[in-house]
Amino acid sequence: MQLEDIETIAVLGAGNMGHGIAEVAALAGYEVRLRDIKEEFVQSGYEDIVWSLEKLAEKEQISEEEAQDAEDRVTPLVDMEEAVGSADVIIEAVPEKMEIKQDVYGEVEEYAPDHAIFATNTSSLSITDLSEVSERPEQFCGMHFFNPPIRMQLVEVIYGEHTDDETIEVIEELAEDFGKSPVRVRKDSPGFIVNRILVPLMNEACWIVEEGEATIEEVDSTTKYDVGLPMGAFELGDQVGNDITYHVLEYMNEVEGEEYAPCPMLEEKVENEELGKKTGKGFYDYEDGDGADVP
Ligand code: 3HC
Repeated sequence: MQLEDIETIAVLGAGNMGHGIAEVAALAGYEVRLRDIKEEFVQSGYEDIVWSLEKLAEKEQISEEEAQDAEDRVTPLVDMEEAVGSADVIIEAVPEKMEIKQDVYGEVEEYAPDHAIFATNTSSLSITDLSEVSERPEQFCGMHFFNPPIRMQLVEVIYGEHTDDETIEVIEELAEDFGKSPVRVRKDSPGFIVNRILVPLMNEACWIVEEGEATIEEVDSTTKYDVGLPMGAFELGDQVGNDITYHVLEYMNEVEGEEYAPCPMLEEKVENEELGKKTGKGFYDYEDGDGADVP
């Protein structure tokens, strides 16, 4: 398949990443089917897209017309057949659990056209293992966006052992057409490149506070103003979601060893559903869930 053949993109999962990816694809001119398992989830993702497009138009980063056209290109759906039945590319952004992803892949294979490429937005799981659950391992790769997708330039395009070169080339071209800068990742190792660096950094930040060496604010000032990250380590954790960081660490711990064991402080946040901006509370409090209170 060539880039020119791609008209319709299905995005599975309307959460933080899924709705952001759908928005990026719609702004690039593609017909987008945004799918989640419940009407309320898919509507919430769709409303987030509408909110974001309005915000971009207000700030004159896009025109009112571009915002409206992008909104019109997104169809929110629950039915899997409608979502993937005519898709040329399927981007999966469902929760970071192997079993959930496997269930979804089984359903996708029932309805997806043979030519469709399957790209997963997994943060860390093995592309090879995931591809072996699908019936198209050679047309399967990682397409890893960063949070928030509308603002982050990078996309990791990741080979599994079975991925063919044509799939990688088309997905790289697609990422460029989305206005992003793809980086090809040849080795399918846990966390790929970015999360292998960032997630242990966020875990180490938790250990520093857990062990009483510094406060959350002190760690964040250091990582933000001295190390030069755009956000402090804890702000970043709240941005990506503490459950995501936790699941990536759990997997890295399982595959790579003890040094990646999640800090108890992080575990506690997940148990208490203090997941960050998306739940209104994480390491910091967010009045209305949009992060207005981040110091
Ligand atoms: N759409 C439109 N507007 C949005 C928005 C969205 N989705 N989300 C937030 N905004 C708005 C806010 O409401 C705010 O609006 P206001 O000014 O009217 O109040 C405004 O955008 C904030 O934007 P600014 O440009 O003023 O903010 P910053 O310059 O601080 O940039 C940022 C924000 C781009 C998020 C920046 O802080 C940054 O780059 N942070 C680092 C993010 C990062 O590293 N992400 C990757 C994490 S790793 C990952 O995702 C991998 C995963 O697998 C774990």
